[in-house]
Amino acid sequence: MSQYHIKHLEEYYQVYRKSVNQPETFWAEIAEEHFVWRKKWDKVLEWDFEKPEVKWFQGAKLNITENCIDRHLQANGNKTAILFEPNNPDEASQHISYNDLHNRVAKFANVLKSKGIKKGDRVCIYLPMIPELAISVLACARIGAIHSVVFAGFSASALSTRINDSDCKMVITSDGGYRGAKTIDLKGIVDEALESCPGVENVLVAKRINSDIKLKEGRDYWLQPLLDEANDHCEAEIMDAEDPLFILYTSGSTGMPKGMLHSTAGYMVYTGYTFKNVFQYENNDVYWCTADIGWITGHSYIVYGPLANGATTVMFEGVPSYPDYGRFWEIVEKHKINQFYTAPTAIRALAKEGVEIIEKYDLSSLKVLGSVGEPINEEAWHWYNDNIGKRKSPIVDTWWQTETGGVMITPIPFSTPTKPTYATLPFPGIQPVLMGENGEELDGNQVEGKLCVKFPWPSMARTIWGNHKRYRETYFSAFRGYYFTGDGALRDEVGYYRITGRVDDVIIVSGHNLGTAPIEDAINEHPAVVESAIVGFPHDIKGNALYGYVTLKDTGEGRNQYNLRNEINQIITEHIGPIAKLDKIQFTEGLPKTRSGKIMRRILRKIATHDTSNLGDTSTLLNPEVVEGIMANVIE
Ligand code: PRX
Repeated sequence: MSQYHIKHLEEYYQVYRKSVNQPETFWAEIAEEHFVWRKKWDKVLEWDFEKPEVKWFQGAKLNITENCIDRHLQANGNKTAILFEPNNPDEASQHISYNDLHNRVAKFANVLKSKGIKKGDRVCIYLPMIPELAISVLACARIGAIHSVVFAGFSASALSTRINDSDCKMVITSDGGYRGAKTIDLKGIVDEALESCPGVENVLVAKRINSDIKLKEGRDYWLQPLLDEANDHCEAEIMDAEDPLFILYTSGSTGMPKGMLHSTAGYMVYTGYTFKNVFQYENNDVYWCTADIGWITGHSYIVYGPLANGATTVMFEGVPSYPDYGRFWEIVEKHKINQFYTAPTAIRALAKEGVEIIEKYDLSSLKVLGSVGEPINEEAWHWYNDNIGKRKSPIVDTWWQTETGGVMITPIPFSTPTKPTYATLPFPGIQPVLMGENGEELDGNQVEGKLCVKFPWPSMARTIWGNHKRYRETYFSAFRGYYFTGDGALRDEVGYYRITGRVDDVIIVSGHNLGTAPIEDAINEHPAVVESAIVGFPHDIKGNALYGYVTLKDTGEGRNQYNLRNEINQIITEHIGPIAKLDKIQFTEGLPKTRSGKIMRRILRKIATHDTSNLGDTSTLLNPEVVEGIMANVIE
């Protein structure tokens, strides 16, 4: 039996038990047998969830890119590491071998150094899904710079907030990006963002769409000429196990986005180990995760996890609907994809297009299908299973978070019997618990509560950049001594977990986490607005969509409500990005408030979902009279 590669359910239980009973031995063996180290650790684990502080593999020295690239060169130098599939199907795919990747990462790393980037500096990467994105991430890791990738759909204002929060010295971007039939002016967005980012010294610009952009003298440089001149050898910076690897921002229920900080050794070990098992990756497989590297799924399961296993990982630049809704299946056929990992929102959008379009393509290469980012509803699960997996490829419904770094609850394909809508069992090393109303652990099966984790795992985020207090308050104070996920879950009669959704003010729209507070803050900037409240409501494709209640200063008849709705969505687009636009906007006389002045979102949520039979006691409200008016004008 190899505990690194689990192949039967009994093996899973055996490995799982060991991971709980002897966690340090377990993780030390995985780390020692499957990764390369410049120096071994002195101590496997030190932890305290009160402080909170977690350290894995202390004393060890390594570089993650030696694990993801160099160690594969001898046996697999010519194997494709990254298979780039462009937005336009008529443009050739690119096969970047491990040898090529090694040289391109080294050159890029030398360019970063030549521009003064050193170990510990923060580098913001704002790129479309082109090879330079993965290469720049790895180049930062090569020299110990901390990358902060910002999804290229965020607005200038959201970008500058993130750049400033972590004091990035450099931004890496491109002249633009392709997304289906559209192009996006990324450099223009960066220029606007940098008007309020005094700390950024240099901008490197990759050429992708050949647009006519301006370079600011002394600040901006075309990337290619610098790469052409750079040396293709770059010694890896030797990092301590707990040195930071990257920052990745995620929405919180309040205020600023949270810069989750991940460290090196534990993240590497956990993403590598989960990748192998969750996807049952075998040597010549071609693996495709459709996420963007701007999100954690792309970091862990396009870049680091697959490359740590010497895999071939596909990077797709485009969208599922371009040039038509057959694009995903065309790519599966073209590259004989073996493992396919996507989000429920994409599955629902594709299901809507019918099965004829799928029948044109040969999907017989598929072995494992994955789902991530939000609960997968039963209908979408069956559609995926019947039409894409043809009932022979197990679906891994993987539950995890930006904060957890890697997959936490998931079936192991071919071992764990799947069950629609259930993420099933904890991965080895993960000890989930459900908490009751009084903060007690709920024992036994057939219980529902708030999902926590009671023991550390190697890839957990170590802090929020610059705000350890917020890290403690957000994740370790709801239940003392436990990591609180913000999700609710239930455990069925055999111990399988089903995630029921967020229990805080985070709403997941099309698989993207959106905090309500930043959207409300944006809306409230409109001169006509007094205040606003955002809630989610179920949506066929997006999973959830946003419903906004907006109180205006002047509800006078003369106002053009259509224009106002557009203006509100425009402000949201400017502050956050188009992903946060509202589907429905209702203008209200006032919002229901508690006597302490807090907006009663519970009532607003019920009204938005037309579930008004039991609104609960409204008499304790400061202004119960507004509820009737809101109910009368609810938007269908
Ligand atoms: O609510 C859970 C939901 O997505 C949240 C984490 O979002 P993010 O940090 O953006 O990471 C997404 C990709 C890992 C979780 O708190 N979520 C994620 N996966 C699932 C899920 N909900 C149900 N089932 C899942 N498989």
